[in-house]
Amino acid sequence: MTTLIAFESSADETSVAVVKDGKKVLSNAVATQINSHQRFGGIVPEVASRHHLEWITKTLDIALADANVTPGDLDGVAVTYGPGLVGSLLVGLMGAKTFAMAHDLPLIPVNHLAGHIAAANFNRPIEYPALALMVSGGHTELVLMEKENSFQILGETYDDAAGESYDKVGRLMKLNYPAGKAIDELAQKGQVTINFPQAMAHEAGYDFSFSGLKSAVINQVHNAEQRGEEIDQADLAASFQAAVIKALVDRTRRALTDFPVKSLVLAGGVAANSGLRLALTDLIEEFPETTFIPVPKQYTGDNAAMIGAAGYFNYKDKVFAGLDLNTHPGLDFPLYEEEK
Ligand code: KG4
Ligand code: ZN
Repeated sequence: MTTLIAFESSADETSVAVVKDGKKVLSNAVATQINSHQRFGGIVPEVASRHHLEWITKTLDIALADANVTPGDLDGVAVTYGPGLVGSLLVGLMGAKTFAMAHDLPLIPVNHLAGHIAAANFNRPIEYPALALMVSGGHTELVLMEKENSFQILGETYDDAAGESYDKVGRLMKLNYPAGKAIDELAQKGQVTINFPQAMAHEAGYDFSFSGLKSAVINQVHNAEQRGEEIDQADLAASFQAAVIKALVDRTRRALTDFPVKSLVLAGGVAANSGLRLALTDLIEEFPETTFIPVPKQYTGDNAAMIGAAGYFNYKDKVFAGLDLNTHPGLDFPLYEEEK
């Protein structure tokens, strides 16, 4: 039995969690600071770091109390060291290092993206080989995993990430940042009335592009304004969402066809999207050998429990770091080459 404490502070959530054997969440304290950033329409890095500083010890206390554990019950300290905002990452990393040093526990470096994917284990164990559709505010990737802790990017976005396109379209629709959830809810009340073009639909491979779609939505809205027409917001949301989902599902189908896998994981903040979850549930019917494992909705956004889940694989692989571990703001896959 392995119990890890995990720290996550890569963007605008300060979180500390205690996770057993990579799959059982004993506690998951999350402090969100979204209210402080909303009026700026995005995360302000300097403001984010200050919030993390204020919350890191509080979330640590809550995580230990909720899990009803003492440092003596723990086997290691997992921490996100990238990708993310450098000032934000530093706070969680310092917290984790201090805790590890004070209690003589090993420090386990975790890639935030691997964390998002590992959160699928809170639904059911990922079986390998597996494919992950990783969709967040900063990333859109199809990742092939031959085995635990092995990651190969098959495709990624050329420009905007899926979540980023939701947030940009949300700004145009005068919705609060981040707008993914609000657009998703609106979309369910609307009809697909506009057929937005799909970028790169006829190109081979598994890559994505969302900036053209965003421009098409902007044009649609501006043209309507010039004609003095009003576009139904719910229909606009439904049409935009349908185009995003189609692009994601098409590439995922392609990857599943070319790389037969046992599990399809859906992870990242956009994995909370109800339309996307439904569309992939339908898609998986075409692949009877593959099980669809979406991350449970409560763990799709940034949280430390997912870092505890990914940290467990590293603990088993003996991927540890010294107290000189630095942040890695641009980290992507493959993982941990420096550490191994
Ligand atoms: O993974 P995450 O919490 O942070 C990053 O690591 O980026 O993802 C945040 C992104 C935001 O762009 C947000 O608008 C989007 O996830 N999001 C959604 C939904 N809920 C959150 N996008 C579409 N539908 C949703 N229901
Ligand atoms: Zn994230």
